[in-house]
Amino acid sequence: MMIKRYIYGKPIETEAVVKTLAPTEGTVPYLTATETEEAYVFEYDMNAYDRLYGLGENVRGINKRGHIYESNCSDDPMHDEGKSSLYGAHNFLIIKGQKTFGLFIDMPSKVIFDCGYSHKDQLKITVTSKDFDLYIIEEKSFTAIIKAFRELIGPSYIAPKWAFGYQQSRWGYKNEEDLKKVVAGYRENHIPLDAIYMDIDFMDNFKDFTIDPNGFSDFKATVAELKEQGVRLVPIVDAGVKIEKGYDVYEEGVEKGYFCTNEKGEDFVAAVWPGLVHFPDFLNKDTRKWFGEKYKILLDEGIEGFWNDMNEPAIFYTPEGLQEAFEKVDEIRQKDNIGIYEYFDLKDSVSHTGNNPKDYQSFYHQVGDQRIRHDKVHNLYGYNMTRAAGEAFETLEPDKRILLFSRASYIGMHRYGGIWTGDNISWWSHLLLNIKMMPSLNMCGILYTGADLGGFGGNTTEDLLLRWLQFGCFTPLMRNHSALGTREQEAYQFTDLESFKNIIGIRYGLVPYLYSEYMKAALRNELYFRTLMMDYPEDSFAENVEDQLMVGESLMVAPVYEQNARGRYVYLPEEMLMIKFKSLTDRSYKIMEKGHHYIEVELEEMVCFIKPNHFIPLCSGGEYIEALDESHLELCGFIKDEASYELYQDDGFSKDYHNPAHFTHIKVSKENKALQVTCNKSELSFTLNLH
Ligand code: GLC
Repeated sequence: MMIKRYIYGKPIETEAVVKTLAPTEGTVPYLTATETEEAYVFEYDMNAYDRLYGLGENVRGINKRGHIYESNCSDDPMHDEGKSSLYGAHNFLIIKGQKTFGLFIDMPSKVIFDCGYSHKDQLKITVTSKDFDLYIIEEKSFTAIIKAFRELIGPSYIAPKWAFGYQQSRWGYKNEEDLKKVVAGYRENHIPLDAIYMDIDFMDNFKDFTIDPNGFSDFKATVAELKEQGVRLVPIVDAGVKIEKGYDVYEEGVEKGYFCTNEKGEDFVAAVWPGLVHFPDFLNKDTRKWFGEKYKILLDEGIEGFWNDMNEPAIFYTPEGLQEAFEKVDEIRQKDNIGIYEYFDLKDSVSHTGNNPKDYQSFYHQVGDQRIRHDKVHNLYGYNMTRAAGEAFETLEPDKRILLFSRASYIGMHRYGGIWTGDNISWWSHLLLNIKMMPSLNMCGILYTGADLGGFGGNTTEDLLLRWLQFGCFTPLMRNHSALGTREQEAYQFTDLESFKNIIGIRYGLVPYLYSEYMKAALRNELYFRTLMMDYPEDSFAENVEDQLMVGESLMVAPVYEQNARGRYVYLPEEMLMIKFKSLTDRSYKIMEKGHHYIEVELEEMVCFIKPNHFIPLCSGGEYIEALDESHLELCGFIKDEASYELYQDDGFSKDYHNPAHFTHIKVSKENKALQVTCNKSELSFTLNLH
């Protein structure tokens, strides 16, 4: 591996990488570096064909060229094209073209990637600090660069197998009746389900690690009762700790000095869902240990998974910011006839109280003997909250995987948990955004990921949810989530129940394949989702395709993402077998030649494509992961002469990931039209469905 590390100043220890590389002296290759008073600027002149890939969680295309992105973890629910930052900060970029190389800037404050925005042919990276590490990665191929980077940042988090089932969430489930009603809605209609999420309303006044006593008479019993039905409960944990006398987490945090402090050294105060809160100082390892151990309260109730939220950290307002807004309002109120600009000022003064940059400059972390202002390390906050939980699980549950994912993230967090892509909207364009974001996230090691299927904000429509689930069938995290006050979007709320049952049912049939592909990608630092270009580097058209993805080694997906579309154009980089699913068992097949095609895909259908000499293992489905029988598999594929497949099967909980017993080698060969299967495990049996 050819990675060069350039050290500037005294970088803050982020622990993004797991390998300590000796620094390289001399000038950085490829880039022109300029030092300004407060920053370093790196420039690269692009020709018309250079492309830019990476930057993890962001808006717009897979090729990032043409826009400006800012690494600055932001709680912003409007993921429109104009945005430069979402919840994560992932400073990994590959320049591909006349020269091909990767770069990673390990610096936890703002980094601005001007990808040909100011000057169409120039990449300009502004690192807003003098202290950082810059890694330059040179390898034989594009995919080798990604692999080298993934090796540098360490292995990806592995979720328990049940978390590969379909999951339902909604902000607004308040009590055990609500949760049981949702489970009944799924089970009565035989729509598969593995988990229900508990959003903030399950807590006692939004206090982390508490359970509302009015909502739950016996929480542990509810957890156990639903688990009996194959459904796990997954509670939310928010970053802010409610300021309330007598609340143990608050009292302990204050006493031990575990919270972030303001300029004067007092515990910093901001407002989020619980009202006024303190933020645990997750950059301090003692705080991490303390907070991480709190998850035990819920583990002891039988909980096996968590989602960490509001950990950019999101700030609704600070008392100081609010005061300033009031003063501004008062000042404007004094005038008898306000001008239009004053009116806008009035509006802004109130709306700018949320996530205000000024507030992020007004609190501090204690890292060893260093006191660091928050904005200098902003992008590390959510990462370290999730790390606190991940590290605690290692001791609390050493032999069992716990589901964990976060909203905010930084490179390195992928070792402790996944992410969901935050507050999207029930828009068709956000389905497309979901598709495009997946390979970029995988490049940064974030494999356990998915979007709020159906859309979080706004009212979904039946067709949007169906189409979104058809893509969600392939995302490791397959979760339907929606905001308080929006149309209810559990699958059983709609008219065409049969189609929902079928689509979600297909996911369960695909689990032997999807889980194997996930595990192999995680264990080998590979990608679960890839762009066509990664598999077909010699195909000059493949690089233009951003709405089809390779999923695992055998499949290509081409989701329909437009309303009322009854089909779509698909590009096949080689001859492939199209499978059209109406349900897990009702399928049709067609071998299609390389090139451009228009394919018809009715609303209740889902298509995918199998590469030649490849197959996928399918099981017969079930209503939850643990109910699947994976001892008999259907091998469904496209065989010209022979194909082999490595299947991964384990108990789905344990952590002996590399145990050779989990790997099964299946080979299918075709001689004189006769098919032969060989497999190193006699306990498995197969049905062949090979074309
Ligand atoms: C945030 C989360 C969202 C959650 C809501 C209430 O907006 O991103 O998923 O439902 O908070 O907790």
